[in-house]
Amino acid sequence: MADEGYDMPKGDLMAGRKGVVMGVANKDSIAWGIACQLAAQGAEMAFTYQGEALERRVRPLAESIGVKTLIEADVTSDPAMDKAFAEVEAAFGKIDFLVHAIAYADKSQISGSFVENTTREGFMLAMNISAYSFVDVSRRAARIMNEGGSIICLTYLGSERTIPNYNMMGVAKAALEASTRYIARDLGPHKIRVNAVSAGPRRTLSLAGIQDGRKMIARGRSWSPLREDTSMEGIAGCALWLLSDLGRSTTGEVIHVDAGFHIVGLPVGLDEEG
Ligand SMILES: NC(=O)c1ccc[n+]([C@@H]2O[C@H](COP(=O)([O-])OP(=O)(O)OC[C@H]3O[C@@H](n4cnc5c(N)ncnc54)[C@H](O)[C@@H]3O)[C@@H](O)[C@H]2O)c1
Repeated sequence: MADEGYDMPKGDLMAGRKGVVMGVANKDSIAWGIACQLAAQGAEMAFTYQGEALERRVRPLAESIGVKTLIEADVTSDPAMDKAFAEVEAAFGKIDFLVHAIAYADKSQISGSFVENTTREGFMLAMNISAYSFVDVSRRAARIMNEGGSIICLTYLGSERTIPNYNMMGVAKAALEASTRYIARDLGPHKIRVNAVSAGPRRTLSLAGIQDGRKMIARGRSWSPLREDTSMEGIAGCALWLLSDLGRSTTGEVIHVDAGFHIVGLPVGLDEEG
């Protein structure tokens, strides 16, 4: 295990299972935490990465947990995705799971006034990378997925409630969650489950793009019922549950892993100063 790895609970819940993890950029990536947990439970994985610059960062991480298959995949390009999934099939034949941990919006679309700052181009780009890509990869994965397979994506509360500056990404996450339900309905008869993990804020490259992203973390810590940050272990544990047979009866669900932040209506006590 490299220094960057997480020491996740070990077992054999994913023994004999093969799958694809999309979205590892560095050691802070949510996809990396999930991959560490899946590896600790015996999964065999391929990682996809966005471009050459990221490959240099992702390869040592992958090798540290025994992941040998690294595949370039830019989700905005159909030819690139054709090639990527052909490589997955060549490496594994059939797969059992897929993790989609990919999102992007131009910085101008995730700060200030939503109604003033959202542009046609910015709207389309965020929707394309953060929501449509999940439909696309689910379709591709399902074609080579065994019965009992499981697919997850990562989402955030900004889909359901307004969060300052999250703006266009909140709209894209709403589309991602609705897509999760429609994909789950279509793939259910093929015995493939599809769910979304709604994680509380964590310091990653993606969060760095959002204005005042760090304040989102601080508020989560002080206002959530558990009064703590969302842990990588908690997110990865939920992913493991959904991707393994433990989650066999759950599909089309959005599950919050956020120290309970989403249930809070009034963040401070009525007798406290806010
Ligand atoms: N960090 C948080 O606070 C948080 C909270 C809830 C949900 N999420 C979600 O978790 C997921 C992973 O984000 P993260 O926070 O780990 O950040 P991250 O920056 O580590 O991961 C985002 C990934 O998206 C990839 N990506 C962007 N555009 C792409 C493209 N065109 N083609 C292929 N890949 C592309 C990046 O390469 C990167 O690996 C995202 O969906 C994000 O919205 C994050």
